Amino acid sequence: MTTDNFTFTVNKTDGAARTGEIRMPRGVIRTPAFMPVGTAATVKAMYPDQVKALGADVVLGNTYHLMLRPGAERVARLGGLHHFMNWPYPILTDSGGFQVMSLSALRKIDETGVTFQSHIDGSTHVLTPERSIEIQGLLGSDIQMQLDECVKLPCPDDVAEKAMRLSLRWAERCRVAFGEQLGKAMFGIVQGGAVERLRIESARELAALDLKGYAIGGLAVGEPQEVMLRMIETVEPHMPKEKPRYLMGVGTPDDIVEAVRRGVDMFDCVMPTRAGRHGQVFTRHGRMNLRNARFAEDKSPLDPESKCTASNTYSRAYLHHLVRSNEILGMMLLTWNNLAYYQELTAGLRKAIADSRLEDYIGEVKEGWAKGER
Ligand code: GUN
Repeated sequence: MTTDNFTFTVNKTDGAARTGEIRMPRGVIRTPAFMPVGTAATVKAMYPDQVKALGADVVLGNTYHLMLRPGAERVARLGGLHHFMNWPYPILTDSGGFQVMSLSALRKIDETGVTFQSHIDGSTHVLTPERSIEIQGLLGSDIQMQLDECVKLPCPDDVAEKAMRLSLRWAERCRVAFGEQLGKAMFGIVQGGAVERLRIESARELAALDLKGYAIGGLAVGEPQEVMLRMIETVEPHMPKEKPRYLMGVGTPDDIVEAVRRGVDMFDCVMPTRAGRHGQVFTRHGRMNLRNARFAEDKSPLDPESKCTASNTYSRAYLHHLVRSNEILGMMLLTWNNLAYYQELTAGLRKAIADSRLEDYIGEVKEGWAKGER
């Protein structure tokens, strides 16, 4: 028997929460993990070694963006995505369906796949489950996602049901297209809108496919946080305990804490990077908008106790000036601060679970946010 060199081990649990390690040839992902988003082969405004130094073990890339520009075949000719972007560690790629729905005009979904027009030049493209897996293979992605259909919430039950069933059929086609690849994984995606019975059916059917990991999709798409958390609680008992669980596109620091508490292992979100480019910062003492006039003469750094240079060195007044002047360095420093905070938070969650003190840690973290600016 050949043993797979893609493995997941849960080292410790605390309530429903888990801490563990996903091992693969390109490295180890410590969970709970936050994956910075590197849509277009770059975590915007960050150097790859800076991202790594913050403690990120994996970044996310996007099929949709890279197939349109520079093109998956071109990335493959240039040595694959890891080499292209100088990130030799694990890369997870999203499958494209979600981005087609949110970014491209004139898209059409049928059994075959999604036909859409590029948001860049209007050209027409077809993404089938097989082509999505082929593209993710050309990129060299370590963790590939199935093609799925994600509906925005709220939505009628029959619409959520149709999308969930289509996603299940696409999961099967993606599994066949992916085949057996040692050292790499393809994850399925649970859908089903905000309907508990659909979510459960989706999770169970996917579990039967015996994939290497499972994502929860179709959340943080317009519903209140309590609905999102209820859906996680609904599916968690039906997701294999021995496989990683990934909540897609989530979220705020509070969403992450609450989802980890409910058994989620992996997250990705544009929030820390995108917010950083728009003057918003996340710290142990909550959020601040650096554009605000009250920071114009504030000599204190964002967080003197942070280990990150962006957070403990530059004054809020200087950052306010950079943001107001639209200076590139402002975006770089705020993105750096935000990703540092997200990594600090997930490292704290891992340690708290390992030390069997998750609830105390969450209490301390929330108290810090409630105190506000310092
Ligand atoms: N990113 C955030 N949510 C989703 C989802 O439901 N599906 C996919 N493929 N990507 C996502």
